[in-house]
Order: sequence, then structure tokens, then C-alpha cells
Amino acid sequence: MFNRLSFKSKVVAFSCFVWALFFLTHSMAAARPLLLACGNDTPVVITGKYTHGANGDIPPADKLVEMGRKIFFDPSLSASGVQSCASCHNPGSAYGPPNALSVQFGGPKMTELGMRAAPSLRYVHAPQAFTEHYVDLMDNNGQDSGPAGGRTWDGRVNSAKEQALMPLLDPKEMANRDLAEVAARVRKSSFAAEFDQLFSPPGTHILDNDEGIISWLTTALEFFEQSPDDFHPFTSKFDSYMRGQAQLTPQELRGLKLFNDKDKGNCAKCHPSVATSSNLIYPRFTDFEFAALGVPRNRSLPTNRDPSFFDLGLCGPLRHDLQDLTDYCGKFRAPTLRNAAARHSFFHNGVLHSLREVIEFYVTRDITPQRWYGRQNGVVDRYDDLPAAYKKNVEMGAPFKPLPGNKPRLTRQEITDLLAFLNTLADGYHPPSASANRIMTASSARHPARPR
Ligand code: HEC
Ligand code: HEC
Repeated sequence: MFNRLSFKSKVVAFSCFVWALFFLTHSMAAARPLLLACGNDTPVVITGKYTHGANGDIPPADKLVEMGRKIFFDPSLSASGVQSCASCHNPGSAYGPPNALSVQFGGPKMTELGMRAAPSLRYVHAPQAFTEHYVDLMDNNGQDSGPAGGRTWDGRVNSAKEQALMPLLDPKEMANRDLAEVAARVRKSSFAAEFDQLFSPPGTHILDNDEGIISWLTTALEFFEQSPDDFHPFTSKFDSYMRGQAQLTPQELRGLKLFNDKDKGNCAKCHPSVATSSNLIYPRFTDFEFAALGVPRNRSLPTNRDPSFFDLGLCGPLRHDLQDLTDYCGKFRAPTLRNAAARHSFFHNGVLHSLREVIEFYVTRDITPQRWYGRQNGVVDRYDDLPAAYKKNVEMGAPFKPLPGNKPRLTRQEITDLLAFLNTLADGYHPPSASANRIMTASSARHPARPR
């Protein structure tokens, strides 16, 4: 049967087969070139030596990770020549920003400021694809909990491959004019020869092919961003506690309880402290769901000098597909709280600068709004980073909702306890090895396996 098909049909049939295989194993975005070849009669364009896994013929993962690492740390890929991915995602700060600035400088002369805080790249290596109707399978009521997933604060991109092009082309970040300029910088980079050697089909040079360069550049970054030791090491004290290799102090345990208590911190509602997906063992402290917290306007941001400008997250301006859905305005994706203790600025606009301040914001937002918000016509303008029409989207439940008598849900001491717990979520903890063997028995370990 297959033999009776024309050559062209065979090519199309084969590419559909490859695409189907690829789709099962890889991200949709990376599969797109093959999908295009499958859906219509355009010729199949497969750049590079490898067809992404049709026969498993992709460079070994460790080679891709190491190439991705070189790319991630190489400032020569930016227009300024001094900014790499690591400038904003510093390994010493859990791949978050290395300083206390709300947002980072970038651009051709390193004089431009963006409008969002650089997130930590740890534990965001595998978000679910963006959906407007997330059903948490581990949640026993199995209800639609609204939008969730995707990458960045507004979830506007799903694959790490696509995401990587955003900073490379952003005029306020690495500021390349177009992909051709990125490709030209790869040709001139210190890793060019190795890149060519790793990805070129026999007898050709991948460096002659802009499309091939971009495809492999972003694939390598994607692999690096999955590397467990760098991006999901699970080496916090809390992980050691879950493995039964360490004890939490009484204060840390009190903090954990407050974190989970629906009437107190209620933090676990959006930053789950147990794994929320059946293919995970340890929690990521985010469910990647979106919420409007009424975070104060950051008046130090250049974009906010214009009083009519608002960063509304899900409904724009950086995201374009949900602009008409006004219920989404002001909603941002909940970040992981792992390594929050290593950060110096918090929330999508980096407006707060200590973890204690963040918790105080949660519990006093509606009790002492004058502490958090500016004034308009002499009155405190609650939720001042939202136009009046969208203030109704703001989350009102615990921990925001004051207790009877207008009391905050957490006392000063309870905030201190909660902070002690949040500090146990920082990577780099070394369990006490002497006692580890004694404690680590099958019956006392909270989870038997490594979360890989
Ligand atoms: C000038 C600072 C800066 C540079 C340089 C930079 N980033 Fe980012 N990164 C950010 C900011 C800000 C965000 C949040 C963007 C948003 O929400 O719109 C972000 C978001 C991300 C995310 C999404 C994380 C999540 O929580 O979903 C990834 C992945 C990422 N960056 C990787 C990279 C890579 C790879 C590079 C280099 C090619 C890079 N970044 C260069 C500032 C930077
Ligand atoms: C209704 C869901 C929800 C609840 C409840 C909640 N958070 Fe959040 N949290 C979010 C969202 C969404 C953001 C991002 C908001 C933004 O930037 O606009 C966030 C951001 C944060 C940040 C900033 C992290 C960073 O990288 O910038 C910290 C810290 C934090 N939350 C801690 C807590 C703690 C502690 C509690 C409990 C007292 C809590 N959250 C309760 C949804 C929630």
C-alpha cells in the first residue's frame, strides 16, 4: 500500500508520523516546523543533523545541557555585550536577580529598565501548559479552578524554546533587532565551533543556516533549564525533612501549620505545600494558578510614570489573547515560594523588598491600606495599581480577610514563625549526616524516593 503512494505523499505521510511521535515526546512549539510540513503540501524542512527524536537521533542530553549552560552564561549574545541570561537569573540567587532592584537594567547601553521582576528559574522547569480551565487532579473536588500554567508572570508562552527568544529580542533586555542578529552573534561566539560540531549534518555547517542556529540555540537552553542539579535540586531543609533526614524546629513547624491553616496564612491555597500532580513527589509551592492580589503600584518603574498605564497581567498589555476577558485583569501567576528567602524584591513589579513585608501586606492590606497604597483626591486609593473597573477582581479571602474586630489573621509572633518556615524552602541545606542514617528508616521517611 505504502509503495503505491507518490513520493510526495510518502514524504507527507512520513512527516506526519514523525510529528505524531514528536508531539508525544516534545513540546508543541518545537514540533511546529514538522506539523507545518504535515498539514499542507509544503516541502519538509528539517534543519540540522537530527530530526528531534524520530530515531532517538538527537545529541545526548548531557551535551545539550552543557551547550545550553554556555549559551546561558554568554554575554556576547546581547546587544550591550555585557548581559547574559545569568545577569538577571543568577545561579548564586537561585537563578533569580542578584540585586535588590525591583526590575533589571538592559538594552543596548544597559540603561533601560523593564517593568517586571525577574523570577527565579528554579522549580518552574515544568509548568503545565496554559489553560483557562485548570482542573487540579489531586484536588478532591476536581473543580475548574480557572486559568493556570504557562511561563512568565502572565503565562503567555508555553515552551522554554519560545520563551528564550523573548529576552534575546526584548529591546529592554538583550536587545537583538531580529533573529538574524542573534544568529550572527552565535557565529562570532566563543562556543561557535563546538555548536557547529554538535549540530551540523554531515558535510554541512549549521552555522550557515540561521533557522537551524535559532532552533538548536533554544533547544539547548531548554535542556539546560531542565537540568536537575541547577534547576530542581530539591536540597532545601524542607526536602530533607520530607525525606526523614532532618527535623524542623518547633518554630518552623508552627510556621508550616500557619502556612497550611485555611483561617490563618492560607498560603497553601495558592502555594501548595504538598505535591499537586501525580507525577511529582515533592511540592513546588505553586500551582501556577492566577490571582489578583491588589499588589501596590510600583511608582519607581519608568512605565508607571504614565498614570494611565497599568500592567494587568493576564489581560495585557504584554499578553494579547485575553484582553477582552476583564475578569482576568490584574491576575498574575503565583510564583514558587522555594528560594523566596533568597530574593530581595517581591511580586510581579518588585514593589516589596522583604519577606516580612510581603506577609504583612497579606494580613494588613485591608486593615491599614494607607500603609500600602497612594492617595487620590485625598483618599486612600485601595488596589492602586488597578483601574476602578477591575478592583472587583481582587482576592478577598484569607489571609487578606481580617478577623472579627478588624484584626490581622497573623500576629507578629506568627509572622516570625511563618518566616522561619519559609526559610526552610531555600536550597543548599546539608542534612546532619551523623543523624541521617539513624533517622532515615523506611518507616520514618515521609517520602521514599528522590523527586526527579
Ligand atoms: C534583563 C533581565 C533578563 C534577562 C537578561 C533575561 N531574563 Fe528571563 N526573565 C526576566 C523577566 C523580567 C522575566 C518575567 C517576564 C514576564 O513575566 O513578562 C523573565 C522570565 C523568564 C522565564 C520564565 C520563568 C517563569 O517563571 O515562567 C524564563 C524561563 C527565563 N526568563 C529565561 C531566560 C533566558 C533563557 C534568558 C537568556 C536568553 C533570560 N531569561 C534573560 C528577566 C530577564
Ligand atoms: C489567592 C492565592 C494566594 C494566596 C492565598 C497566597 N498567595 Fe502568595 N502569591 C500569589 C500570587 C498570584 C502571587 C503573585 C502576585 C503578583 O505578583 O501580582 C504571589 C506572590 C507571593 C510572593 C512573592 C514571591 C516572588 O517571587 O516575588 C510571596 C513571598 C508569597 N506570595 C507568599 C505568600 C504567603 C506567605 C502566603 C500566606 C500568608 C501567600 N503567599 C498566600 C497567590 C497567593
